[in-house]
Amino acid sequence: MSGGAYFWIKALHIVSVIAWMAGLLYLPRLFVYHAEAEPGSELSETLKVMERRLLRAIMNPAMISSLLFGGMLLAYQDMTAAWLQVKLGCVVLMMFAHMAMGRGRKDFEADRNTRPTRFYRIANEVPTVLMIVIVVMAVVKPF
Ligand code: HEM
Repeated sequence: MSGGAYFWIKALHIVSVIAWMAGLLYLPRLFVYHAEAEPGSELSETLKVMERRLLRAIMNPAMISSLLFGGMLLAYQDMTAAWLQVKLGCVVLMMFAHMAMGRGRKDFEADRNTRPTRFYRIANEVPTVLMIVIVVMAVVKPF
């Protein structure tokens, strides 16, 4: 692949992770308000629609394209590099956070959420911390 193509793929990778991160940082915020809403209320039903569309129309496709373009970039990396191993480890944790949010969304959709607002406020910090570590690893490559 020519140098130009490599940078096009890296650009598409970064665009994909921006969309994925937007969803991973926003969905727990919706859960914070949803945990305070009365089941069956107009607010709860509106939040169900917002959560479903955010996950299915933005987060799922963005995660897949982040993996696809990131995977293409891997072909040109030294897989023994410590920065890349730390980064990929954090990406796996980020995917677990994504899956956990998917399960949380199903609980809210079925009006069976039992977790308090405080849980989602704290959960919101997990993708934030992982994102910071991942970007520092990818850009600074400290080791
Ligand atoms: C999904 C699995 C992922 C894989 C396999 C992957 C892999 C890669 C690779 C191989 C590079 C090229 C490094 C270079 O050329 O210097 C890269 C660049 C980058 N990745 Fe990922 N990545 C993934 C997910 C993410 C995520 C989730 C984020 C952000 C939260 C991210 C942020 C970045 C950034 C900012 C760059 C550009 C680094 C630079 O140009 O200096 N990546 N990624």
